[in-house]
Amino acid sequence: MVNIANKDTHTFYNFLPSNRVLRKMGLFSDQDGILRRYLNEGRNWQSHLENTKQVIVDFIEQKSAKEISILGSGWMLDIPIRYLADTMDKVIFYDLRHPRGIRDKYARYSKFHFIEMDLTGGLIQLAYSLGRERKKKPDVVSEIESAIPATKNLSEPGTDFIISVNLLNQLDILIVDYLKRFYTLDEEILVRIRKYIQLNHLNILRPKHSCLITDVSEMHLNDKDEVTDTLPLVFCNLPAGSQVREWVWKFDTQKTYHSACTTNLLVKAFYL
Ligand SMILES: C[S@@+](CC[C@H](N)C(=O)[O-])C[C@H]1O[C@@H](n2cnc3c(N)ncnc32)[C@H](O)[C@@H]1O
Repeated sequence: MVNIANKDTHTFYNFLPSNRVLRKMGLFSDQDGILRRYLNEGRNWQSHLENTKQVIVDFIEQKSAKEISILGSGWMLDIPIRYLADTMDKVIFYDLRHPRGIRDKYARYSKFHFIEMDLTGGLIQLAYSLGRERKKKPDVVSEIESAIPATKNLSEPGTDFIISVNLLNQLDILIVDYLKRFYTLDEEILVRIRKYIQLNHLNILRPKHSCLITDVSEMHLNDKDEVTDTLPLVFCNLPAGSQVREWVWKFDTQKTYHSACTTNLLVKAFYL
């Protein structure tokens, strides 16, 4: 069993690897990439960002929520910040890293709190350790499946209501992409890992108290704007009955994500 405890790993809230590990795994540059892509795409992202904000506002209104946790807040591009500042008593933002500019910008809002943690409950540190221990040929899937589930670490997020914002499939993509650097893993194994990570995330979203916004599939388009193929991004069942909206996010119109095609994402929102 790989030991995922290190001096930077704490129980409960602060399951966070060191900056060195996060940097080596490319997680900071991945977050920076989101901002870069947003600046390049400009207006193409606008309707997606507005739709996400509206779903969040509608959820809060419907629940009359006064305290809320937002998971995956990042650059806050898709968060209705002014609304939250005006109407909420307490907002806790969770991410691996809250960029310095974001923290500084909102430092004077005493009702905003920023917590940096690995929302998979420690699997980032585990993936890093597995990468380093590849010569011992550990069983990657059982190591991941027997790791402490995220539910234990986020069972009390600090507020009654939780909103997961365009985060669900980032949780598995970042870990799986890292593992692929060191291991040749069958597609079936990769899907099992993705499913495990995503199910863990769904488990922390308490029924009737949570909103989930996530891209569910990636569509590739040719020069005539026709969809040529579609890749799934979610590997567990999402409760269809609780879906409230869906829309298409024009994610990459400049062929920088895939050089052969442009990419749209299908996004769905759920009040769980
Ligand atoms: C696609 S972004 C969501 C958009 C974000 N709301 C914004 O406006 O930048 C995903 C966010 O999830 C964060 N993230 C990815 N994996 C994470 C993890 N295991 N724990 C916590 N945050 C994570 C990333 O750092 C990033 O800020």
